[in-house]
Amino acid sequence: MTQNQTSRTLKHTSVMKDQAVDALNIDPTGLYVDATYGRGGYSESIMNRLNQHGALIAFDKDREAYEHAHKKYHNDARFKIFQTSFKSLSQVLREYYHGRKINGIVFDLGISSPQIDDPKRGFSFSKNGPLDMRMNQDEGDSAAEWLKKATEKEIADVLKVYGEEKFSRKIASAIVLSRSSEKSLQTTKDLSDLIRNTVPFYEKTKDPSTRSFQAIRIFINNEIEDIRDICEQLPLILSDHGRVVFVSFQSIEHRVIKQFIKKVTAGNESFDSLSGLIGPIKKPSFKRIGKATQVSNDEVMDNRRSRSAWMRVLEKLSCQDT
Ligand SMILES: C[S@@+](CC[C@H](N)C(=O)[O-])C[C@H]1O[C@@H](n2cnc3c(N)ncnc32)[C@H](O)[C@@H]1O
Repeated sequence: MTQNQTSRTLKHTSVMKDQAVDALNIDPTGLYVDATYGRGGYSESIMNRLNQHGALIAFDKDREAYEHAHKKYHNDARFKIFQTSFKSLSQVLREYYHGRKINGIVFDLGISSPQIDDPKRGFSFSKNGPLDMRMNQDEGDSAAEWLKKATEKEIADVLKVYGEEKFSRKIASAIVLSRSSEKSLQTTKDLSDLIRNTVPFYEKTKDPSTRSFQAIRIFINNEIEDIRDICEQLPLILSDHGRVVFVSFQSIEHRVIKQFIKKVTAGNESFDSLSGLIGPIKKPSFKRIGKATQVSNDEVMDNRRSRSAWMRVLEKLSCQDT
């Protein structure tokens, strides 16, 4: 990165973009949601498929993502971006769209390349910068602030649950111990040095900091709770045959999405053919469209950051279907 570059000018290569937008099965007059704008790769592709009656709502917590979208689309009345979590979608539909239902929503989860590549954002252990990691730079505790006040158990739990870090307790203990030394954890290098000095290089392909950085980022940005929250809203805000497309990268994201899919596609579980009904019949509210699809080898060759991506697609059933 050159001195003048900031995350405003850094680029993001969209992952599984054509597959994800194709999977929305776009009606040119419909209302769609890009839940994670980033640098607008998905949004641009959706906008290209809408006519003058269609509309797109986008979300991103990140100020620079918001500014990117605002600059690009401020003259286009079909497009609106909100600098907030996608979990505000129901509220936005009530306040700005008269409670209209949406025809489709796409999630491209996690963080963007401009966020990772700008050292000032503090997401990367390989680039020294302030230990921040917030998607929304204007809200909440930075990673450094949280690590200063969290208990040892809270830190260990976060590292274990969100990072599947097997040395979670050892790292948490070293973090708490570091508070009593003169130099508290202020930078990404401070934290990655501490982790390197605490645990061995135990995985061939991963720096010892990888799991802890991922875990702390997921926690301070409330990433998993936001996904759970919007999933609860989806059955109510999608129109019949509306599509949901998830592109996810981390095993904890895959797990939460799979649990949601299992829940909303399950039906008639409590019907017993011998004894008749043994409980209320559970109707599925969604069907799966295709199988979970992994990113192609060709895409990974072009963009290594796509390597853990999976796409999953659902369609809302109408009353007649269920
Ligand atoms: C992988 S990038 C999306 C890239 C985008 N599809 C593109 O093609 O440019 C993920 C973006 O989602 C944002 N994000 C993640 N979780 C979010 C949430 N719960 N609410 C709003 N934005 C979120 C991040 O700030 C980041 O900019």
